Amino acid sequence: MPYTTLLTELRDGILTVTVNRPDKLNALNDQVIAELGQVAAEALAGDRIKGVILTGSGAKSFVAGADISELSSQSPMLGKERSLAGQAVFRRFEALRKPVIAAVNGFCLGGGCELAMACHLRFAAENARFGQPEVKLGIGPGYGATVRLPRLIGRGRAIELLLTGAMIDAQEAWRLGLVNRVFPADRLLPETESLLRTILAQGPQAVAAVLEAVDAGSEMCRDEALLLEANHFGLLSSTADMREGMQAFLEKRPARFEGK
Ligand code: COA
Repeated sequence: MPYTTLLTELRDGILTVTVNRPDKLNALNDQVIAELGQVAAEALAGDRIKGVILTGSGAKSFVAGADISELSSQSPMLGKERSLAGQAVFRRFEALRKPVIAAVNGFCLGGGCELAMACHLRFAAENARFGQPEVKLGIGPGYGATVRLPRLIGRGRAIELLLTGAMIDAQEAWRLGLVNRVFPADRLLPETESLLRTILAQGPQAVAAVLEAVDAGSEMCRDEALLLEANHFGLLSSTADMREGMQAFLEKRPARFEGK
């Protein structure tokens, strides 16, 4: 599908999506949000898409937040609608049963950090900078930071970032658990692709089940979440991939999964 604010490339099952407004540091205007929603739907429906990498255009920025020129004139109701629309799009990536990795190649602020947090994993270039600067603009986050940041790094640390609007570097983001790994800028995409390929070499149905168990289970009470895990454990026993995986182990050879 042709997009005006995104570049997309599908190679060997990996869909790389690049937010492409480098002159505005890839800020999220309504068009970007709408197109991200379309790309998420494409990733959900497309059998050829096995995993997704989200990144930003240029060497300077992943996404420097929501587009302030649009926010500056919004009415209260439009603000609410804009927030709900962005939340719904980000939720689509989070709920995808295919791995989604943010490759954070620079400024990752406000809505950019919220987009990255909705991904399953976050890898960062050494020059990446993270923050939720909304309070500096006299507004709060609208795309999920008050919900996802405390769950990701703990309530106290999240509140500090949310209330100060401070920008932190990639090492600090790693120390806080906001990002999984940090790479030199020129290694970010190759390393991200490499890890995604490692994931895609596992049993696809098992990967999908783990993503579902973590996503749904993290909002359930302990016993419901454990039951969900047990149901997946049992259900996966019906798959050809489970038989192949275990047979391959016993025969001391690599498994050849077919997603069946
Ligand atoms: N919305 C709209 N435009 C943005 C933007 C945003 N969130 N972030 C950057 N831009 C634009 C700038 O207005 C500028 O456009 P111009 O060249 O037409 O004037 C361009 O991107 C380059 O940004 P600039 O500020 O000149 O780069 P810098 O290197 O001096 O500073 C930042 C980089 C990220 C520190 C700074 O752009 C910034 O603070 N951006 C806003 C971050 C933010 O508050 N995000 C949360 C929004 S809710």
